[in-house]
Amino acid sequence: MRPKIIAGNWKMNLSEKEALALATGLKEKLPSRLGDKKAVVFPSSIHLASVARILENSPVSVGAQNIYPSPLTAMTGETGPDQLSELGIGFALVGHSERRQFLKETSVFCNQKISYLAKNGFTAIYCVGETLEEREAGKTFEVLSKQIQEGLGSIPSDIFPRIWVAYEPVWAIGTGKVASPAQAQEAHAFIRKEISGLFQNGKSIADTTPILYGGSVKADNVKELLGQPDIDGGLVGGASQKLDSFLALF
Ligand code: 13P
Repeated sequence: MRPKIIAGNWKMNLSEKEALALATGLKEKLPSRLGDKKAVVFPSSIHLASVARILENSPVSVGAQNIYPSPLTAMTGETGPDQLSELGIGFALVGHSERRQFLKETSVFCNQKISYLAKNGFTAIYCVGETLEEREAGKTFEVLSKQIQEGLGSIPSDIFPRIWVAYEPVWAIGTGKVASPAQAQEAHAFIRKEISGLFQNGKSIADTTPILYGGSVKADNVKELLGQPDIDGGLVGGASQKLDSFLALF
C-alpha cells in the first residue's frame, strides 16, 4: 500500500513572519486532521532552519526545494544535504519546472541530485511534466518518458524506495487550470509504467513508488484527484501557503 501524501511547496512566496506563522499553525492544527496521510512542507532555504525547529516532534516533515549534490564544499549560494541532515531535514524536491524553465536545470543534472540524495538517506521528490505547447503538439508522453529515463535511469533499485515522483503539468501550475482527474490519472499510469521499465523486475518497484500530482490542487479538487488509482498525493503550491487552505486539503 502506498501512503497518501500532501506536500506543500512554499516556493519563494512567503516572508519569514508568514512562514513561521504558517509552520506554527500547522503544528497546532494539522495533527487532528491528518488521519493516515503524510504531510511535508518545503519552505525556501532561508526559512528551513527555523521552520524545522518549529515542526520538530510534529507529524509534519520538512524538505528543501533544491540541493547541490555534494558533501560540504566550496559552492557559493547552494545548500548541501549534510547541512540539511544537521537540521533533521530528510526530503528535497528535484527538478521543479520553475528551475527547469528559468534556471535551465536538466534531467541529467536532476539524476545526479536524486542519486546523491537517495544514497545519503534522503527522500527525493522528482518533478516532471509537459508544457502547454508540448501537450498541444501531442508530445506529453514523449516528454515524460525522456524526463523519467534521464532523471531516474541507472539509479540502483535498492535506493529507489527513497524516490517519489511528482507529475506537474507546467500549464496547470499557478494557473488555476487543473488537469482533469482522467488526464492526471493517464499521465500517472504512464509514469508508473516507465518506472517499471527501468528495471528487470520493475513492476514491484513501480507499484510502491508514490506519484504525486501538482498543479492548482485545492480543497475542492483534491479528493477526486487523490481518488484516482495512480495518484498518491498532491504537491501543492498556492493552497499550501495559507493555513486555512492548507488545512482544508486534509
Ligand atoms: P500551484 O498549486 O500553485 O499550482 O503550484 C503547484 C506547484 O508548482 C507545486 O510544486
